[in-house]
Order: sequence, then C-alpha cells, then structure tokens
Amino acid sequence: MEIITSPADMAAWSAATRKSGLTIGLVPTMGALHEGHLSLVNESQKRTGATVMSIFVNPTQFGQGEDYDAYPRVLEADAEKARAVGCAAVFAPPASAMYPVGYKTYVDVEELGGKLCGRARPGHFRGVATVVLKFFNIVRPDEAFFGQKDAQQAIVLKRMVLDLNVPVTLTVCPTVRSRDGLALSSRNAYLTPAERAAAPAICKGLTAAASLYLAGERNAAKLIAAVKAILAASPLIVPEYIEIVDTVSLQSLDVIDGPVLMAVACRTGVSRTRLIDNTVLGGSL
Ligand code: PAF
Repeated sequence: MEIITSPADMAAWSAATRKSGLTIGLVPTMGALHEGHLSLVNESQKRTGATVMSIFVNPTQFGQGEDYDAYPRVLEADAEKARAVGCAAVFAPPASAMYPVGYKTYVDVEELGGKLCGRARPGHFRGVATVVLKFFNIVRPDEAFFGQKDAQQAIVLKRMVLDLNVPVTLTVCPTVRSRDGLALSSRNAYLTPAERAAAPAICKGLTAAASLYLAGERNAAKLIAAVKAILAASPLIVPEYIEIVDTVSLQSLDVIDGPVLMAVACRTGVSRTRLIDNTVLGGSL
C-alpha cells in the first residue's frame, strides 16, 4: 500500500491505476479510524478494483471553538489499519497542499447545508463539500463511500454531485454500532465514562421511534416525543435537535408519507461532546 501526500502524485497514481484497467473507490476520512470506516473500505473492495482512503483533518469544516486542534491525529496507526483491510493507497496531504496560500474557492450547497447540524455548525457543510469535491478531482474515483451516521453530509454531497455533474457514484453504508447501540464515531473518545454509559440512549430513542413507525404511527411529533422521553431519563445527554425531515430536501415534516430521515444531535453534559445519530424510516439514503 502506498502512502501519498502530494495531490499531483495522487492524481498520477490514479491515472496509472485506471490505465491498468482497475476502477477506483474512494473512502474519505479524517483518520482516527474505527470499524465504521473499515466497513466503508469493505464495501469499496466489493465494488471497485482499487480502494483509496483519504486521511485529512479538514480545517475548513471546523468552526471557531470547535475541536480542529484536539481532533485525534494518528496517521501511522491509521495507515496500518488501512493496509490490513486492503486499501491500495492512502492519501494524506498536509493542509498547505489542499489549501495553499491564496486559496479562494468554496462549494456552498445552498439551504441543505444550513439545516439540522448546519444551524449549530455554520460553514461546516461548505467545508465538507469543498474538500470532498477536491478529493474527487484529485483521485477521480468511480465510486465513493460514506457512512449513514453522517446522513446530512451524504445528502449534501449527493446534491453536489448531481448539481455539478460530478462523474462519481456515491454509496451510503449502514451505521456501525457498538454492542450497546452507540454509533461509532472518532469523537466517542472524548466521552467521560458516565457519558459513554448514558450515550446509547440516543440509539434507544431512535429504535423506539422506529418501532412506533412500524406499528403505523405517521405523526412526526409523536415519534419525536418518543425519543425525547427516552433522552429525558439520561440528563448527561442533552438534545440539540430531534427532527423528521425529507431525505432529499431536508424539509421538516409533520406527517410522514414517504421515506424520511429522523435525525438527532445531542451535546453531552460534561465533555460537551456533540453526538449525532439517525434512522431512515420507510426507505434508505
Ligand atoms: O465524514 C468525514 O470524516 C468528513 O466530513 C469527510 C467526508 C472526510 C470530509 O472531510
């Protein structure tokens, strides 16, 4: 497995790989790899000839006061995991190569980027869309793989790919969870032991809402109330939003009559870690 740090070398590697007849799958990550990331690589391996994983803590998607400096950076360990799971290359550029002096261009997916997490994280999805389009242009993958845990990110990126005619197929893979239901996230490492013990309440709430949906409930407020009631028993897990939205427009819905995203964001009481999770009712992303 090659570790590549320059965009020009990455583009040359991809061109040579394509010339050899292989399709390319891209798994974009910010490192601190867990089983969720590795499941994206597994899916890419099934569908493409060579998998590239990007590992880049992208400064433009972090707001002021967010955890850009604290975000775990463990490139050596990550590269070892990427190698073990069968990646053909890791692309790990320095920030100066992605955003050189004089950098001025950003991708803004209007409206979608301002909803749900976008309200608490203004500019976040602009940073995500910008860096992912840059990765697409450098790596030129046939397919790219994202986790459903970051559902809004996947929806924003699908819109970008459609709107800008980007020749890549996006696949959204199921959220990988711990045994107790907590969605895997590199940020779970910030949780105090008590927060970690309480955090599965988010998944429990979503599961309760999904059961009500399966039993025929279509009133969004009732499903939201079910999640709220479960979170209320875990004072360390404070909801920031619980919403039911259209899976394409992210418009909030009162009544469910098609596939919907039920999305939750919480802030923990001590470490102030932001946890997100979701379920798709009546369809998939
Ligand atoms: O999901 C992530 O880890 C990041 O948002 C991504 C897609 C790698 C862009 O920096």
